[in-house]
Amino acid sequence: MRPIFTLPLAALLLTGTACTTMPVATGEPSMVAPILTSADAVDTLSYAQPQVARVTHVALDLALDFAGKSLGGTAVLDIAARDDAEAIVLDSNGLRIDSVTDGAGNALDYEIGAMVAEGGKGAPLTIRMGDARQVRIAYRAAENAEALQWLSPAQTAGGEHPYLFSQGQAILNRTWIPTQDSPGIRQTWEARITAPKPLTVVMSGIAQGAPEDLGNGRRAFRFEMDKSVPPYLIAIAAGDIEFRALSDRTGVWSEPSMLDAAAAEVADTERMVVAAEKLYGPYRWGRYDMIVLPPAFPYGGMENPVMTFLTPTFIAGDKSLNGLVAHELAHSWSGNLVTNAVWADSWLNEGVTSYFENRILEELYGKERAEQEAALAFANIEDTLAEVGNAPGTALYQPENVDPVGSAIIYDKGAYFLRTMESIVGRERFDAWLESWFDRHAFEPATSAMMLADIRANLVRGDAALEKRLMLDEWVYGPGLPGNVARPAAGAFAEVDAAVAAYPASGPVASARWASWNSAERQRYLRGLPQEIDAAGLAAMDRSLGLTQGTNNEELFLWLNLALANRYDAVVPRTETFLANVGRRKFVAPLFATLMGEGEWGRPIARRIYARTRPSYHAVTTGTVDRIVNGS
Ligand code: BES
Ligand code: ZN
Repeated sequence: MRPIFTLPLAALLLTGTACTTMPVATGEPSMVAPILTSADAVDTLSYAQPQVARVTHVALDLALDFAGKSLGGTAVLDIAARDDAEAIVLDSNGLRIDSVTDGAGNALDYEIGAMVAEGGKGAPLTIRMGDARQVRIAYRAAENAEALQWLSPAQTAGGEHPYLFSQGQAILNRTWIPTQDSPGIRQTWEARITAPKPLTVVMSGIAQGAPEDLGNGRRAFRFEMDKSVPPYLIAIAAGDIEFRALSDRTGVWSEPSMLDAAAAEVADTERMVVAAEKLYGPYRWGRYDMIVLPPAFPYGGMENPVMTFLTPTFIAGDKSLNGLVAHELAHSWSGNLVTNAVWADSWLNEGVTSYFENRILEELYGKERAEQEAALAFANIEDTLAEVGNAPGTALYQPENVDPVGSAIIYDKGAYFLRTMESIVGRERFDAWLESWFDRHAFEPATSAMMLADIRANLVRGDAALEKRLMLDEWVYGPGLPGNVARPAAGAFAEVDAAVAAYPASGPVASARWASWNSAERQRYLRGLPQEIDAAGLAAMDRSLGLTQGTNNEELFLWLNLALANRYDAVVPRTETFLANVGRRKFVAPLFATLMGEGEWGRPIARRIYARTRPSYHAVTTGTVDRIVNGS
């Protein structure tokens, strides 16, 4: 348990850039990150009132119940509050609260307010803490807690043991942790988790010693994160998993039967960490481990500190999709070190990370591959803009009242903003500034406005001509693509684009040429082909290129999507096995959308498959696909 301490009001209201160093009873310093108080840093997706009272540390003691598909136990929260604060407001969603006491065990009154189901905001949990600055909550997560997915043995590679993983971003952790679930309220944390043998538990914190055998068929695992993190980064996974070291500080977990393939796919991880440090400064989190999860994981990857979560669908056998690892690693700076204060500033996490990812790929694999990835990203932006025009959602800053238009904006346009700045000021100067930005705001929240102010103060430095060339406000607050965008090199895909252009007259590219292409080139080709191809054309292409048999999931997905959009019956069985085995929303949702767009042909197929596969998907995926298939 952590000692209780109080924080002076001045530190709570601090809006500057420095951390406040708080002496604690042990004499070690504890960093309490500032709360931003500007209007654009107020998190409308949280009930917390951090200027009054805020959580600084979370201590969890939880038991995993696989039979009941639930977890429960206690959360002890350390609080920093104004002297006159009598209550603290937490976020919760579906939690069953059994009791609340202060640190000494005295019962405290509490109240769960009105539930906002829409969007997952949940309900405020207000605790009348009086003078107490530590509270202990005994609780249980709901069986259908959205952050958690409890997999049956059949949903794992081994088929013998159940599995659990969590996904916290953006506001799902309030379904299993009663705390202030806002990216601007950083907290340190520790956990003790018990699980039935032989399951192993990992978390997004450093494991403390070997697991303790409890003698009742269960073991207890301990973890600690002593650097403050936004609470969406608290994550857990448990299953029949094994570890393989990749270097002194990196390694990978997966089910035993997948470990060889997983380790081979991420074999370049240590080199990536070295490259990232060379670019933007030391890796500050100690270890960098990864876990390759079962295919139900709804994302490609999630940057949980010291334990990146990865989909197994990026395993292609040739490291061709390991940009995913570069991306999640880069979040150790952009996202985990400097964190978007509110979700409207998501591009600060994802756009900066996508730029950083590309720079890591360039360091490891050279300019050509990096330029190809950049060209694919640019095509994403162009496709999105072609679809939605200059909709308000095409600005990087995305306040709540604006409809988001998909990942091409915050990821790819965000990355192109940084690429454009780099091209204008030069790489050396840009890199020095970006590293200094991470330094100045390390372990703190940041807003778009803070980023622009920082660019002006430390990069532009009053150079009016430079200010004008950068078009900073247009990039962040304006729609579409500013005119100064640093376009990708025209020749990145010269050969592929020629093959695409030749398709109508000459048919599919020769199989030998296809075999010589890397995955980026194949993806470019499959995306570039005409949208309408008849069954004979699709059959000829599949015969020659073996697409339906493919094992690279990015390529397979593009092929299935193209074929389904042309009502090509021959790919329906492969689509069905794909959708039954993969829960990654990026693949699953578009395939269902394509089927639903194909009227009398596609809709019955979509409904039949979804009735079968829905129970295997995470709430993140069903949340999207329900709307597509059921129109709800
Ligand atoms: N942090 C994201 C995943 C995320 C974003 C979860 C928003 C919840 C809300 C992660 O870093 C990510 O971007 N994953 C991508 C990988 C990629 C772009 C290489 C994904 O899952 O596809
Ligand atoms: Zn990301």
